[in-house]
Order: sequence, then structure tokens, then C-alpha cells
Amino acid sequence: MWTQGWALSASWRNAGFSHRASACSGTFGNFALFFHQSCPPSNFSLTQTAMSRPLTVFGPYRSPTDGTLMLESVSLNEVAERYGTPCYVYSQSVLLQSYQEYRDAFQSLDTLVCYAVKANANLSLLRLLAAQGAGFDIVSGGELFRVLQAGGDPRRIVFSGVAKSRQEIDEALMAGILCFNVESAAELRRLSERATRLAVTAPVSLRVNPEVDARTHPYIATGLRTSKFGVPATDALALYREAKKLPHLKIVGIDCHIGSQITTLEPFLEATDKILDLVHQLAEEDIHLEHIDLGGGVGICYRDENPLSLSDYASALKPRFSQFRGRLLFEPGRRIVGNAGLLLTRVEYLKSIPERQLVIVDAGMNDLMRPSLYQAWHEIVPVDAPRKTDQKVDIVGPVCESTDVLGTERVLDVQAGDLLAILSCGAYGASMSSRYNARPLLPEVLVNGSLTTVIRRRETYADLIQHELP
Ligand SMILES: Cc1ncc(COP(=O)(O)O)c(C=O)c1O
Repeated sequence: MWTQGWALSASWRNAGFSHRASACSGTFGNFALFFHQSCPPSNFSLTQTAMSRPLTVFGPYRSPTDGTLMLESVSLNEVAERYGTPCYVYSQSVLLQSYQEYRDAFQSLDTLVCYAVKANANLSLLRLLAAQGAGFDIVSGGELFRVLQAGGDPRRIVFSGVAKSRQEIDEALMAGILCFNVESAAELRRLSERATRLAVTAPVSLRVNPEVDARTHPYIATGLRTSKFGVPATDALALYREAKKLPHLKIVGIDCHIGSQITTLEPFLEATDKILDLVHQLAEEDIHLEHIDLGGGVGICYRDENPLSLSDYASALKPRFSQFRGRLLFEPGRRIVGNAGLLLTRVEYLKSIPERQLVIVDAGMNDLMRPSLYQAWHEIVPVDAPRKTDQKVDIVGPVCESTDVLGTERVLDVQAGDLLAILSCGAYGASMSSRYNARPLLPEVLVNGSLTTVIRRRETYADLIQHELP
């Protein structure tokens, strides 16, 4: 079974799955299977029921019968037929497995995984995570509203962000969140003032900038000396002393978040050691913390990265907390939802220009901003079995911007009308999308086994103008 599976791997490699070496286990419907994401066994069939090994569901794979792309038990051709394109599609199993993997990595410690809502704020996904007991990291009143609507426990919410308004602070105070991750002296004073006004106590954690180079794209590095985020480590002690004196504040924690899509341990360890240094200094001043929040930032595989294993991450961090009696918090976003989603798009036209073959698709930079914003690389594969070719094409969208390019120099044999899947779009895909060029926001479809559910309907033209004067 495995030999046959690997024999097919060249075609999966063409399909762009060769780099996905990691696997994880889980259940799938009421039968058990096992396959490697990059090369499912060639005789694997979704109608098989008498399998004994645990299933690995780690993103899309090719049907061994006709080579079309599947997510869980669902053909992506069928999803496109049913819901149209462009369209975001998520795997419930991947989402939940990723969350559980994070939560379980630190099992022996008292930890709380606060999913970073900004990565993907869809209500149904939040609901699934809330039902698992997840906490949430929010950065706005709108995200607070979403989490509460999804049944999230306010006592598991941390509120980050450099520009919390009075209204947002009041809403979070009234909701009774776990803590405010305070990012400046001015915010600390405002928080005290609002808590005093509302006659409540505000739980405070200072977001400290540990001045660590996360070795990631500069646009998603947040722990550099010049970053707008957090308070400089050198100011932190003075600010804690002030927090101790200000009315209606209770110091509960410390936190840091150094950036996103980080694929090596060193920046995390460097930041953790700096934070622990501060924790010791605070203890000497009789300021004892209930929690330490190490933020998110653990990267995923988009192309050929070798992302950190969560067990390595946990093993490296755990010994550092043997003396700490409080709780450890994390704020992962991308690692939970990134590989759980893909974007389905249809080829509208082929076009030749000097030195380039263009594949013009119906999804654009407004739907998936990462390539144009960060030069981010997403794997783009045909939904039907890939055809062999040497031809390199650029995949571009309909938006009237030269930066509306989703992928360059991809080896693909594509015809007008073909369906493509842009992979690893679960994080910072739909949540960063816009209506630029008066393009309605996309539908989002959740796959659970053989079930598909529209968890956000496609917007209509009427939706585009509903908040404007007629
Ligand atoms: C404060 C904070 N926490 C957590 C995250 C989540 O980061 P990631 O999705 O890389 O885990 C971010 C993302 O920018 C953030 O700003």
C-alpha cells in the first residue's frame, strides 16, 4: 500500500505537495485510515470502511482513483460546482487537530492557548475553538464581539493592540476579560481612568518588546527595537511600578509577541529569557505574576520551510518555567488555521505577453492579500490531476493593480476554465480580504468529513452598497 503510494509521489510533487513531510493523526468520520499528506496510498478510497490504522488529515490530497484534489471526504471540484468560485474552503479536522496539538504540547504545564482571532475571525471557526475550551487573543472591539457571539469565555480573552479606544476598553472591562496586554504608558493610564470610572478592576499585563530579531519578513516582525508594538524592556520595570500605584489596576501578567511565521527556535528562546529576566526582577520588587504570555508566531509550511515542531518548541521552553508557579499563555494564529484553508479559483483567460504567460484567474489580491502585501508564496495547484509540463506561468487576478499577482513562474499546464487551489490560505486570507474594485467578499465553506457547510455566504452586489445612501 505504502510502496504504491510513494510510487505516485512524483505526480503529487508536481501538484506541489512534495515538501509536506509532516503528518499528524486524528479521526475521520467513523473509520480509521492513515496516509501521508504528500502521497496518499494509491489504493486509498474514501469508500473504504474496513481500515484499522489512524487517519492523518493534514490538508488536501489527491484522490487515488482520478487524481482530483480532495479535502477530507469532499472533492474540491464538487465544492466549486456547488458554491462557485472564488471560494475559501476549510478543513474542520485540520483546524481542530492543529489547536489540539498546540494545547497538548505543553500538557504538563498549566497553559492556555489563546487563538489569535485576527488570523481568521469566522464565527463558525471561533465557535469550534471555543467549544474546545480555547482562549482568544483579540485586537479590537469587533473581535471581542465576534468571540462573545461565538460563545467564547471572556475570562479566557487577552486584549492586545497599540490603539485601544476608550469604547473598546470599556467593552472589554464590562465583559470581564482575562487581561489587557498594555502596549504603552499612555494606555496604562487610560485603562486606570476607565476602570475607575466604571468602578471595576482592570487586569493588566504589559506587552514588553524584547528587542529580538525574529528573522522573518520585516512586515511581520514585531519585536524589533523600532517596532510600534509593546513597551521597551528598559521601560518595563518603571511602568510596572506605576501600574502598582494607579487605581483600579491589578497586575496579572507579562507578555511578548515578536513576529509571525518564525521557523527557528532561537528568537523564541531569546525573547523568553529576556521576559523571564524581567519576571525575576519584578519578583524582587514583590510584584508576582499570575501568567506569562509568550505570544504566537510559530510558522507553518507554505513552500519549503521547515517549521518548528511544537514538541521541540515545548521541550525547549518547558525547563525554563520549572520555577514559575503561574500559567503560560500562547497566542497562535497562523499555526492553528493556516494550513486548514485553501482558496479555490477558476481560470478565466490565458494571455501571452512578452516573456510571460499569464493565467488570469477569478480571485485577486483583494481576496488574498498576502502575495502582494508581503511577497508571500502560496502553493498553487490544479484541482484536476496535474498534466506534465515544463511551462512556467504567472497567476494574476482581476484587480486593477500591477501588484495583483498571486504567484509567479509556476510550472503548470492550465487551460481556461480549469480550477486551481491556492493552498495554506486559512490564516490572514479571508480575514485580510477587502471589497476593492467593488468585488463582493467571498463565501467560506467548512468541510467536515463528507459534509460541507457555508459558514459565510457570498456577498451580493446589494451587500456592497447596503451601508451607503441610495
Ligand atoms: C499580539 C499578537 N499575538 C498573536 C499574533 C498571532 O501571530 P501568528 O499568527 O503568527 O501566530 C499576532 C499576529 O500578528 C499578534 O500581533
